[in-house]
Amino acid sequence: MKWPRLFEIEDQRWLPQMLRNQMTDALRYLIMEMKAYDPIIPEFLWVMQQSKTRKVLDLCSGGTGPWEYLVGQGSHIEESVECITLTDLYPNKNALKAIAESHPIFNYEAEPVNALNIDEKLTGVRTLFSSFHHFDKAQATSILQDAVNKQMPICVFEFTARRAVNFLATPVSMLVLFARLLVAKPLTFSRLLFSYLIPIVPLIYLWDSTVSHLRSYSQEELRDILDNVHHSESYDWEIGESTSPRTTLKNTYLIGYPKN
Ligand SMILES: C[S@@+](CC[C@H](N)C(=O)[O-])C[C@H]1O[C@@H](n2cnc3c(N)ncnc32)[C@H](O)[C@@H]1O
Repeated sequence: MKWPRLFEIEDQRWLPQMLRNQMTDALRYLIMEMKAYDPIIPEFLWVMQQSKTRKVLDLCSGGTGPWEYLVGQGSHIEESVECITLTDLYPNKNALKAIAESHPIFNYEAEPVNALNIDEKLTGVRTLFSSFHHFDKAQATSILQDAVNKQMPICVFEFTARRAVNFLATPVSMLVLFARLLVAKPLTFSRLLFSYLIPIVPLIYLWDSTVSHLRSYSQEELRDILDNVHHSESYDWEIGESTSPRTTLKNTYLIGYPKN
């Protein structure tokens, strides 16, 4: 079935940065709570093993996504990765600064980095968590094409998908979010205001997460996108779905790295 590509509020330029940051922070809390990216650790480590670099360039990092959890879980990521640079078109500077201060493996770009136009100086295995669906097919193709042109490995990971369980879990995740936002530090007045008194952030979350599930690419759609990438044969690619006993969430992934 063909789904219309609806918009996400988070993608709108007019969204005040303060609300955008609260949204990406909320997403980080949920991802950590649900161990949403536990399933992709083997795929990520495999790409690092196949890569000549030990650097990671995380695109569309939002509120840092799953990184704190991934690095902190005895996942052996620190054995394969030297540094992780976090970037975003609308950088959540507080979250980026906090993670960079918490662990020497992390650094970040304080200025906007557009995943569709990455500066040559930014190198490393490119990772995109919960963000590939923000790009239409032409843009998604150009993200893969740029990685191939610059001979950079790339990993696309999404727990969002058009799976019934995801839509059913959305109200539950709203409840988790309400509870988690209350204990997350620092508890600011603006978080209390926009999460509880005037619950704009949970409402944006409800809309954006539903749209994210709807517009996330299936494995078949990812294969179609890859078919349009020139010289893709110079890469080893894998598209699949991974699971972990530590979470009920499945992950769809696309990984690619230059052939040895
Ligand atoms: C759903 S959030 C995911 C954030 C994070 N990766 C995570 O897993 O929580 C999507 C992020 O993509 C960013 N984004 C959207 N379009 C972008 C672009 N063209 N270049 C870089 N970042 C972009 C948004 O600002 C937002 O932070």
